[in-house]
Amino acid sequence: NSNGVLSKERLENIKEKLDQGLFPQWMVSDPEVFDLEKDKVFGYTWQYLGHESELKEPGDYVTRWLMDDPVLLVKNKKGEINVFLNSCSHRGTHLCAADLGNRKTFTCPFHGWSFNTDGELMGVIAGNKVFGEKMVRPEWNLRKIPRVETYKGLIFGNLDKNAMALDDYLGELKWYFDLFLARSDGGMEVVGSPQRWVVNTNWKIAAENFGGDPYHVATTHKSTVELGISPQDPLYASYGHQVQLNHGHAINVSSSDNGLNVPPYQGLPEEMWPMFEKNLTKEQLEVYKKTVVIVGNCFPNLAFHCPVHGNEGHLHNYLTLRIWRPIAPDKTEIWAWFLIDKAAPEEYKQASYKGYVASFGPSGTLEADDTEIWTRVTKASKGKMARDRDLNFNNVLNYMMGMDKIEPDRSWPGPGIAYPTCFTDFALRGMHDYWLDLLSADRDE
Ligand code: FES
Ligand code: FE
Repeated sequence: NSNGVLSKERLENIKEKLDQGLFPQWMVSDPEVFDLEKDKVFGYTWQYLGHESELKEPGDYVTRWLMDDPVLLVKNKKGEINVFLNSCSHRGTHLCAADLGNRKTFTCPFHGWSFNTDGELMGVIAGNKVFGEKMVRPEWNLRKIPRVETYKGLIFGNLDKNAMALDDYLGELKWYFDLFLARSDGGMEVVGSPQRWVVNTNWKIAAENFGGDPYHVATTHKSTVELGISPQDPLYASYGHQVQLNHGHAINVSSSDNGLNVPPYQGLPEEMWPMFEKNLTKEQLEVYKKTVVIVGNCFPNLAFHCPVHGNEGHLHNYLTLRIWRPIAPDKTEIWAWFLIDKAAPEEYKQASYKGYVASFGPSGTLEADDTEIWTRVTKASKGKMARDRDLNFNNVLNYMMGMDKIEPDRSWPGPGIAYPTCFTDFALRGMHDYWLDLLSADRDE
């Protein structure tokens, strides 16, 4: 499509419009855009695969997807986590179809080749007779995902062997990740296994929702206001900072500064506070002490939400990580993990898990509100009129909130460009700007 509607020149044009707060509606769920982003965005960025705490004993494994590639994560005898393409090296069969388990070997259901937890080809049915003594078995080991790196328990894979280091890619986001990943001794741990469901939405709508849209909260989740779970004040989700971070990452940190009656450190048990004070920096503590909700998106499709739920006296905090896995221009598979501090008291962990499933996950009240809206956005962006690739930019959506009205807060102690409200579109413009950069990047293969 180098000359067509997605040419470099045209994409640069779209970038200019984005600077003015305009984004073409036709790009939301366009199949050509989808194919291009699968290749140029998802083929070159770090993708979240799972958490180290999901694999405890040697032989423990989980199966995941890196876009359309099946992936097998398995702990070997030495306790290292190996990450393979979950496809047999003989004729490519999807090797392990289970979600999780513990095994010493993985045997292919097609012709019976078997591999150990280091991916080594161990058994070949009738091996020496049919392939001969000369078969070089190590040449037929399972194939490794080109790059695998971790950050404080989070395991990421990258299909681009030349990708920048994960540490650099996460960049400014690490400072904020640490507010929940590093606050406690032992970090966070996954409880249960991830819930998974499919929603008829384009993945970008979900990524936007977590990355930079606290503006939707008072309307989309109005029922929670009516039930008295959320404050009456229509601006309540705006109090705090939205921070635009490098590499398209986006975060909102809502704070108790503006009358939200939440105890320090997200209402976590007081016995844990000295740990936070030991593990976080002075600047991080300054922010974290007053934090109520942290919600954001690690570009392109790993969202995180670390809220406080419940009523006074029964407040609970948790972390949910979610993947928006694109499966079609109008279909996304959601994977949602629940995490809590390993060092939290046992009853607290259980109560917080209950709070999580009541609000988020496929049966959660807040989740149901959101997914209904995401499918509506996608549905209304699929018709002939909405898909008009109008060259004059008449068919655009509004990403103008905060433009010319809000200045960055220079006193903010964390990295990135912080705005003194969460009701702005700075973070989303940053996210789409990076997305457009990747779509138009020259790659020499
Ligand atoms: Fe796996 Fe043949 S495809 S053994
Ligand atoms: Fe929502």
